[in-house]
Amino acid sequence: MRQQFAFFTISCILCFSFYSCTNTANNTTSGTDSSALASCTNGGFSSQVEWGQHLVTISGCGDCHTPKKMTDKGPVEDTSLTLSGHPSQAPVATLMPDQLAKGMAATYDLTAWNGPWGTSYAANLTPDSTGLGAWTEQQFMTCIKQGLFKGIQGSRPIMPPMPINDFSKMTDNEMKAIFAFLKTVKPVHNIVPDYQPPAGAGK
Ligand code: HEC
Repeated sequence: MRQQFAFFTISCILCFSFYSCTNTANNTTSGTDSSALASCTNGGFSSQVEWGQHLVTISGCGDCHTPKKMTDKGPVEDTSLTLSGHPSQAPVATLMPDQLAKGMAATYDLTAWNGPWGTSYAANLTPDSTGLGAWTEQQFMTCIKQGLFKGIQGSRPIMPPMPINDFSKMTDNEMKAIFAFLKTVKPVHNIVPDYQPPAGAGK
């Protein structure tokens, strides 16, 4: 009787975990038998890094953090510079004055932005020393959860248009998966310019 009960309980747990996994991702084909539990904790993907890649893709991190090439169909991501932030050599003068007059301006590649908060530049998220190379996972989580530059207590707030209000709602496991993926991206040496407050600020 006791054995039957134990069998019943285990079956229920397995059923439930399968059910909850199929509801966390459509990607059920990649998580097979023995990796079922691992794929559960990885959002249904077979590894944490794959899950992180998926989250980075659907969150559009590259829309702002990857430099673009202009084509006749519009800007396309420069895959040799994936997630490396605003290119240090790109002049900010490419901000469009007519756009700025309407309240906000961005370079065509969406890596530099100007508005009432000042000028902000999309950060280098690659694992180079000029990017997230020296960051700890904890730093990354503090940065995203609390909107703090470099994830250091006491540092300045992260500026627009980084969608910090939305991303701060990510679960810890989602943030960890994103960080794990970012550590696998090709390192690109690129020193992103410092944020500049609006002209006249602090007077
Ligand atoms: C709409 C544009 C936009 C999108 C989309 C975006 N970012 Fe950002 N991000 C920025 C800008 C601009 C900055 C620089 C803000 C500043 O200097 O305060 C930034 C800063 C950051 C920083 C802080 C770097 C530092 O040195 O403190 C991290 C980390 C980051 N982004 C990660 C991400 C991740 C991960 C995603 C996708 C899940 C993402 N961003 C999507 C625009 C964006």
